[in-house]
Amino acid sequence: MADSKKPRLESNPEVKYTKIWIDNEWRDSVSKKTFPTINPCTGDKICDVAEGDKADVDIAVESAKKAFALGSEWRKMDASARGHLMNKLADLIERDSEYLAQLETLDNGKPLKVARSADLPLTIKCYRYYAGYTDKIHGKTIPVDGDYFTYTRHEPVGIVGAIIPWNFPLLMQAWKLGPALCAGNVVVLKPAEQTPLTALYMGALMKEAGFPPGVVNIIPGYGPTAGAAISEHMDVDKVAFTGSTEIGHIVMQAAGKSNLKNVTLELGGKSPNIVFADADLDNAVEMSHFALFFNQGQCCCAGSRCFVEDSVYDEFVRKSVERSKQRTVGDPLDPDVEQGPQIDKEQFDKIMTLIEAGKSEGAKLECGGKQVGEKGFFVEPTVFSDVQDEMRIAKEEIFGPVQQIMRFKTIDEVISRANATSYGLAAAVYTRDINKAIAVAHSVRAGTVWVNCYDVFAAQAPFGGYKQSGSGRELGEYGLEQYSEIKTVTIKIDEKNS
Ligand code: NAI
Ligand code: MG
Repeated sequence: MADSKKPRLESNPEVKYTKIWIDNEWRDSVSKKTFPTINPCTGDKICDVAEGDKADVDIAVESAKKAFALGSEWRKMDASARGHLMNKLADLIERDSEYLAQLETLDNGKPLKVARSADLPLTIKCYRYYAGYTDKIHGKTIPVDGDYFTYTRHEPVGIVGAIIPWNFPLLMQAWKLGPALCAGNVVVLKPAEQTPLTALYMGALMKEAGFPPGVVNIIPGYGPTAGAAISEHMDVDKVAFTGSTEIGHIVMQAAGKSNLKNVTLELGGKSPNIVFADADLDNAVEMSHFALFFNQGQCCCAGSRCFVEDSVYDEFVRKSVERSKQRTVGDPLDPDVEQGPQIDKEQFDKIMTLIEAGKSEGAKLECGGKQVGEKGFFVEPTVFSDVQDEMRIAKEEIFGPVQQIMRFKTIDEVISRANATSYGLAAAVYTRDINKAIAVAHSVRAGTVWVNCYDVFAAQAPFGGYKQSGSGRELGEYGLEQYSEIKTVTIKIDEKNS
C-alpha cells in the first residue's frame, strides 16, 4: 500500500472527470446544469460537476436495462469472468491508490494518512472479497415430496440504485458495487453531492477494467432530484441507501409509492460505548476516543454515547480530555494531522448548534467547543462530561468531534440505558471479564458489538442496523444475499425412466 511517510503534498491532485457517466461515456447533464464541489479546508470551489436529475437517471436506467437484457454480454458472462473483471478493477484502484487517496482528501477533507491507510485498503479488499465470490454463489437441491427435482438459483435482482453519502465516498461505493456486481446486477449510482470526484474516477477505471457499457452508471447530483428519481423509479429493482435516518424514511416511502422495490438501508446511530471499571483503562480511553473522533466524528457507527462506570468515571474523563487536547487538527495533507475539517457548512452549523445545546442543557464542557481558525469547517475536539440521557447531545446524532461521557453504576442499568434509543447500529464494551462482555454483547440491540476495540471493519463480516439504524446487512456473505433473488425451479421427473 501507499507509504504513509511520504512528504507533504505541495499541489492538489488534478481533477480529471466532472461529467455524468452513462454507457461507459462522459456526458453533460440533460439540463446542462452544473454544481460546485467545495474544498472543506477553505470553503472554496474545487470545480463544477455536471448536475444530474430525473432526465439523466432515466437515460441511465435505459442504459442499465440494455446491459441487463437477456443475452447481453454481461448476462452471458461466466461468473468467474465477472470475478476476473472485479479483480482487475481492484488492481487498477491499487495502481492509482495514491492519486485516489489525494482526490478523496481534497473533496472530503479527511486526513490523507487516513485515506491511505483505511479508505483505500478497505475499498480494495471489499472488491477483492466479492471478486472471489462471483463463482461461489450456490443454490440448493431440495428434497420436495413427489417425483420432482427442485433446485434454487441465486439470480441478480436487476437494476440496483445505489445512493451513497460523503463520509467514506470510495468505501461506500465499494460496499454497494462489490456485492451488486458480484451477484451480476447492473447499477445506477448517485454519489453524495459533497463528494462526487472519486466516484466519477471509478467510472473510468471500470471501463479500463473491461466492464461492458451500462453495467455501472454514475449520476452526480442532489438528493431530492437525482436521488429521488432513483428511489421512485418504476424500473429500478432495488435501492441500496446509506445516509441519514430522515432520508431513509423517504427512500422507503418512495419504494412503497412506486414499484415496491427491494430496499436496504444503512442509516444513523447513537452507539453506546460502555466502559466497566475492570477494563484496561488506557485502552478504553484510547478506543473510546477513536470510536468518537475517527473521521472527524462523521461515522454512522460513532461511539457517541460513552457510558463509564462510576468508580473510574473521573479518571476516565480526565484522561479522555487529555487525549482530546492532544488531538491534532489542521491541513489534512499534513502527515501529523489526525483531524481535518467537517464536510460542509451545514454539518459545521449542526455541530455548533448541538454544542450550544449541550452547554445550555447543563452538560459540562471539558474542552473544545469552538471553530478552529476562520477558514473552512474545522471544529475543536470537544468533550462533555456530566451528560444526562435526556439531553439533546445524548440523543441526537451530532456527526462531529464531540464526545458525550455519561456515568453508570450497574450492568443492568447500563444495558437498559444503552437500548433506550431509536437507533441500533453498533456498540462497544470494555472489560476484562468475559461474562460481562458477553452479557452486554448479547443484550444490546445493535448490529455490531465490539469488545475492547472499535471500528474493526472487514469485508467478510456483516454490518448494519437494528431499529431505525437500517434494514438489511452489508458486507460478507449476508451482504451478498441482499443483491440476489432466489428462484425455485421444479422439474417433473418422468417415472418411466426413473
Ligand atoms: P443525507 O441522508 O441527506 O444524504 C445521503 C445521501 O442521500 C446523499 O447522496 C444525498 O444526496 C441523498 N439524498 C438526500 N435526499 C434524498 C432524497 N430525498 N431521496 C434520495 N436520496 C436523497 O445526509 P446529509 O444531509 O448529507 O447529512 C445529514 C445527517 O445524516 C448527518 O448529519 C448525519 O447525522 C447523517 N448521515 C449519516 C451517514 C451514515 O453513514 N449513515 C452518512 C451521512 C450523513
Ligand atoms: Mg440531507
